[in-house]
Amino acid sequence: MSVNWFPGHMHATRKAIIERMKLGVDVVIELLDARLPGSSENPLLAELTGAKPALKVLNKQDMADPARTVAWLDHFNARPETRAIGLDASEAAPAARLAAACRELAPNRGGMAKPLRVLICGVPNVGKSTLINTLVGKKATKTGDEAGITKNEQRISLASDAYLYDTPGMLWPKILVPKSGYHLAAAGSVGRNAYDEEEVALELIETLQPDYAPLLEARYRLQDVASMLSEDVLAGIGRARGAVQSGGKVSMQKASEALLNDYRSAALGRVTLETPEGFAAWRAEAEAA
Ligand code: G4P
Repeated sequence: MSVNWFPGHMHATRKAIIERMKLGVDVVIELLDARLPGSSENPLLAELTGAKPALKVLNKQDMADPARTVAWLDHFNARPETRAIGLDASEAAPAARLAAACRELAPNRGGMAKPLRVLICGVPNVGKSTLINTLVGKKATKTGDEAGITKNEQRISLASDAYLYDTPGMLWPKILVPKSGYHLAAAGSVGRNAYDEEEVALELIETLQPDYAPLLEARYRLQDVASMLSEDVLAGIGRARGAVQSGGKVSMQKASEALLNDYRSAALGRVTLETPEGFAAWRAEAEAA
């Protein structure tokens, strides 16, 4: 078993991005989930957007491990034609900071004659609607489910001479790194029908064990989590959360739901599932397989 996603709008979104690129885009913002920057980066985006400068925005940084966010920002900032910044929904007026970062990437654009044209992309649930609502200053409708930006194109003002073009939330057709599928599922970016919650919960535990065992121990009153089998950790989570059926058997399904809810709401604490080095190793392994 693994995570199987069927991104229904993928084709239309892809086409819409290509059409928008033809009309002119100076900078592509990719909104990433700061808790899983490697997995939430679309491996096909660079292909669709060509050599356009990229701004990687690590969103939900309030839920991510601050030290790992720094490592990921350094990692992306080391790429040519790329800038990376952290962001979260508590920032009341992020437009100026976003526009400034885009301007650095496209210094020849700006002013009324040559307004800066920015395209924003990201996986579902990364916080794009929330950010756009903040930018437009009202409760805009969620664009995530709408395919095709030509029909539903939203032009949002970032500054008097900078525009942001929205795209629907997009995944890609094939999971390249198996861990990515699990991490995206754990983060809520993959449709519920595409994965088995227990499998995702066990993978999440295995990812958390080496570095975040103390968080699991504190939340679920467990000991020596790093050396336990993931199944035993999940059973312990179930017992701590009262997911016990008649006869005393732990409901692994309920335990999985509890863990995933706690992870998604950051009740476990600030956790980042990936490091740049670790993610590169997973990718090399997947490519070699
Ligand atoms: P999308 O358009 O990219 O699909 O994502 P959306 O804005 O709908 O955000 C998905 C969830 O993530 C929402 O929570 C939203 O409140 C939350 N979120 C967005 N940005 C941030 C952030 O920077 N930090 C934190 N902690 N959360 C963020 P939800 O539970 O699905 O909905 P609701 O609680 O807003 O009703």
